[in-house]
Amino acid sequence: MVAQDPAERPAPAVLPAPAVRPEVWETYGPADLSAVPVFAGGFINFGYWACVDLERPLTQDDRIRSEQDLYRRVLDAVAPGGGRAVEIGCGLGLGCALALDEYGPASVTGVDIHPHQLRRARAANAPLLAARPPRLRFVLGAAEDLPLGDAGFDCLYSVEAVQHFPDLQAFAREAARVLRPGGRVAVAGFFSVDGVPAPQERLAGLLETFASGLDIARPVSRLTQAFAGAGFDDVRADSIGPQVWPGWDRWLARQWAPGTWPRNFMTAWEQRILDYHLVTAARP
Ligand SMILES: C[S@@+](CC[C@H](N)C(=O)[O-])C[C@H]1O[C@@H](n2cnc3c(N)ncnc32)[C@H](O)[C@@H]1O
Repeated sequence: MVAQDPAERPAPAVLPAPAVRPEVWETYGPADLSAVPVFAGGFINFGYWACVDLERPLTQDDRIRSEQDLYRRVLDAVAPGGGRAVEIGCGLGLGCALALDEYGPASVTGVDIHPHQLRRARAANAPLLAARPPRLRFVLGAAEDLPLGDAGFDCLYSVEAVQHFPDLQAFAREAARVLRPGGRVAVAGFFSVDGVPAPQERLAGLLETFASGLDIARPVSRLTQAFAGAGFDDVRADSIGPQVWPGWDRWLARQWAPGTWPRNFMTAWEQRILDYHLVTAARP
């Protein structure tokens, strides 16, 4: 008899597919954001540009380096060591591969709500998936209802997906459930600035992704309170906006003129409506 993997939830015969909001379905399905030139290369995040010289013309390698560095910033915070890691909103799974390559976890499970993204992730990581013993797998699931067993992971991380999660409390509860005692969580993403009145309306006026409902405006305190409410300790939120927005805007300036909506991410940060945070916590 094969022992049950504690990271696997004992599953009913057929797991229902998670409901995907229409804006998320379109962006990461038919529209395939990873194929848009500003994101070419497979990562879909705004990057952490601290190690990139912004004074010289930027290259695609610079941008990919910044996107990898955002993962490194997050993975440094959870220190996967030899443990089991799970990434929520893994996209094309390049961050899972980076974690395996550079941080030495026993395994990485990439979870994403979109079946098209997981199809791309499996294609992009075919050699790693074929390795024996297997250390990487991809699972279809929603942050708010993870198809994973209790206490099966040593760390959980997420990079630039949280702005799409409709229910932060459910996400925090699920993170607490799937982590073992002592497990760590790290989430990087953008949030409205605490205390800003009507952030959804103001951000929708600047940015198409908020106007369409793809991105949801919430202050970072909503996530820290959700983690605290789910029983996490040592909950903290650090602004990493200075390492994200100026570099991302320099990158966008190659293809987008001032005043076009993608450049308004920088405007929203300068106007103190939006910021980028790394949120960390530990399960007691
Ligand atoms: C901006 S991409 C980031 C992908 C990857 N983390 C990266 O940095 O390249 C956001 C990802 O989150 C996924 N996603 C959106 N809502 C989700 C949810 N509720 N649960 C799990 N994944 C979700 C999307 O399908 C998409 O692949």
